[in-house]
Amino acid sequence: MYLGIDLGTSGVKVLIMSEDQQIIASTNQSLTVSRPASGWSEQDPQSWILATAAAFDELAASRPDAIRQVKAIGLSGQMHGATMLDETDNPVAPCILWNDTRSHAEAARLDATPGFRELTGNIVFPGFTAPKLAWMRNNKPELFDKIRKVLLPKDYLRLWLTGDHVSDYSDSAGTSWLDVGKRVWSPDLLAATGLDLSHMPALAESTESTGTIRKELVERWGFSADVIVAGGAGDNAASAIATGIVGEGDAFISLGTSGVIYAAIDSYRPLPQSAVHTFCHSTANHWCHMAVILAATDALNWYANLVGSKAAELTRALGDEITAPGSTMFFPYLGGERTPHNDASIRGAFIGLSHPDDRAVLTRAVLEGISYAFKDGIRALEAAGTNLSRLIAVGGGSSSDYWLSLLATILDKQIDRPEDGDFGGAFGAARMGLVAATKGNPSDLCKMPAIEKSFYPNKALQDSFEPVYARYAAAYSSLKEL
Ligand code: XUL
Repeated sequence: MYLGIDLGTSGVKVLIMSEDQQIIASTNQSLTVSRPASGWSEQDPQSWILATAAAFDELAASRPDAIRQVKAIGLSGQMHGATMLDETDNPVAPCILWNDTRSHAEAARLDATPGFRELTGNIVFPGFTAPKLAWMRNNKPELFDKIRKVLLPKDYLRLWLTGDHVSDYSDSAGTSWLDVGKRVWSPDLLAATGLDLSHMPALAESTESTGTIRKELVERWGFSADVIVAGGAGDNAASAIATGIVGEGDAFISLGTSGVIYAAIDSYRPLPQSAVHTFCHSTANHWCHMAVILAATDALNWYANLVGSKAAELTRALGDEITAPGSTMFFPYLGGERTPHNDASIRGAFIGLSHPDDRAVLTRAVLEGISYAFKDGIRALEAAGTNLSRLIAVGGGSSSDYWLSLLATILDKQIDRPEDGDFGGAFGAARMGLVAATKGNPSDLCKMPAIEKSFYPNKALQDSFEPVYARYAAAYSSLKEL
């Protein structure tokens, strides 16, 4: 048995997977986010441990046999958070999360500092880890002076599990302190935020063992004494392992709260100016390109709430067949945008509204707008040299046939929806545990899921979507001026 833990923003998911990769038990424990000031987003690291312990309690009560047979634990986690520890490994402050934008001025300053884009291969986004430490140094110097280690969220859970300070390359790539091409911490980047190598954890591959679990956990939950903990990965790289995205050109599109197109690449090809993220992949000697749009189902749910409906009802009402676009357009920048604009202040819009527009017309406009935002992302990936022929669709939005047909047509890609299953970070984490314990080959052990349905571009309609996408892309600069 293998146990996967995904430390998300809204909850911790823990599942147990058998040797033949069937999920035999799983549980979720919710987490809360505190927002003490505008743009702030924090969590108490202790709450991650309490939630994981509660999940272990539940699984040990319902499946003690399975817990006893666990050979390895894998970790997946929300990326970029700054968990700042003193010399006794206690947090000096709440963890500053990936969606906290308080350090935007520090991020802009670091981004303009020679070395950052060159060594990290990425823009220093306000959500990344380094600017958060620069903010602490400027605003809370008395706390900053106490910091002895900075860990990413899932690595704080590992510290609790094994007692060791270790991270993996995929998650560390999102700190702005890693030389992402060479896969080593950069002393120069650390020095720019007043830190040095002693503040960083050791680094490991996602699929190698980083240690065994502590005696206390063995005694409390009935694990065997030699359970290893694999390096694990940031949540998107863990989902890639869950969907079998391993080699160059393999890619998934995630229609979740945010929208992500994730592609594995077999050489380091950064293109920071396009706001494509270039991180280490969860397999050795591979990297990934990621286009991140901040509001995917988030925008659809926002509209559904507004009209007193549910996203699934709205998309169902459109039927399964797409038709040519109307003249009403939607821009999903409800909380700014990452790829390709890197713009925290841009906001969304409907344009071209007219009297006959009803709920269905606006639902279509919302789905089209989010799909055009994904098209911006695909174009940025292509500019970075990553050409994709097919995408595996995951996340809540992928249950809509209408939306996947629309995306296939607008993106001009085949989109494959897997048969029912769990393709999230926790399953990917359990698979990383399996690879670490068996020292197997990730490509053999992390297969793509069986496909339930494939969606192809509707060639007859593509000509009518092209000019509307061109208008969508051109409108960004006008919206920004407004
Ligand atoms: C990736 C990103 C999110 C977080 C939250 O860059 O910011 O996917 O990992 O889950």
